[in-house]
Amino acid sequence: MDNQADGSSPLLVHGGQLNEVAQRYQIPLEKWLDLSTGISPINYPIPAIPENIWQQLPQPNQAMLSAAKNYYGTQNISVTSGSQAVIARLPALYLNHINQPANGIEVWLPEVGYKEHERAWHDAGFTIKNYQHLPTCEVLSRYAIVVVINPNNPTGELQQQQTLTTLLTTLESLSGWLIVDEAFMDVITPSQSLIHLTANKHLFVLRSIGKFFGLAGIRIGFVSAHPSWINKLQQLSSPWEVNGPAQFITEQALKNKVWQVAQQQQLIALSIRLEALLAKTFLPNQDKSNDPSITISGCGLFKTLVHPQATELYQKFCCQGLYVRLCDEKNALRFGIPDQEQYQILAKLLAEHSHS
Ligand SMILES: Cc1ncc(COP(=O)(O)O)c(C=O)c1O
Repeated sequence: MDNQADGSSPLLVHGGQLNEVAQRYQIPLEKWLDLSTGISPINYPIPAIPENIWQQLPQPNQAMLSAAKNYYGTQNISVTSGSQAVIARLPALYLNHINQPANGIEVWLPEVGYKEHERAWHDAGFTIKNYQHLPTCEVLSRYAIVVVINPNNPTGELQQQQTLTTLLTTLESLSGWLIVDEAFMDVITPSQSLIHLTANKHLFVLRSIGKFFGLAGIRIGFVSAHPSWINKLQQLSSPWEVNGPAQFITEQALKNKVWQVAQQQQLIALSIRLEALLAKTFLPNQDKSNDPSITISGCGLFKTLVHPQATELYQKFCCQGLYVRLCDEKNALRFGIPDQEQYQILAKLLAEHSHS
């Protein structure tokens, strides 16, 4: 990560800034197909929200919290204004608890992955180590922190529960932390979540309401950790951080098992369809003669195309009014999952691309 003049990391671009892109390419907003995020195109339908919830200051919503305990299968859980809010606070929590200079502590982060983790630890002065494969006990030092995004965004790489449980045991013996960002875990079956293990003081699990429930705008997420950490994180947060209407919607969404099962099935079906379309476009040969440097991976909330001409493709697609996410390494494009209607537009645009 290249620093700004004051030593802090640059602001990151994540996809979703359609206004800016539309202006750059001089194409009116309504003409774009926006697949730049990993947010479900189908959202939990917004229920009628009682007037008093809009009117009052937000209060801790016990019904929402018990719905979350039930949905995530743990008692050790606290609501936040998106998992991003927790990512930003974990370095301060660590420094408050450990009497060591930050630069003496190694934080292991995936080389490819949601870069806000790196930004937070880097800006707090920690020593950053990037990994391609999970670090082993031989390379981890005392107080080490390992961040795992599971499944990874954008690669879709999934770590098995057993692998992470072993890593947790190693980090516990080093008095370190394992932080598992499970923002996209809701679409994984069988789940590889570690959330049931958060009675362990060396583990933090982050969950997001934005992706699977398609409600990124309401800014709700959860952190699961030992109750002593939950208390300390609450002290680091500000009053009324999570607004009342968002808590009300989340309560309904977390309770609605029928909707969740249907959502899971739809996202899996739509993502398989997207993958097949990308394969038809970029890996058209049924035999083994496709370019081996082109790959497609991902999960039920996005598909990522690694391609040697990713930057050129990104620009070409933007000129066609198709906005996807050019990954930070500039070697891949991440496609959000199109709904039925968006799929038809995408298929047409990709067919035009194939014939040009
Ligand atoms: C891997 C990952 N974690 C966390 C977040 C933050 O999500 P939110 O703050 O909406 O919960 C994102 C957002 O894109 C993400 O990709």
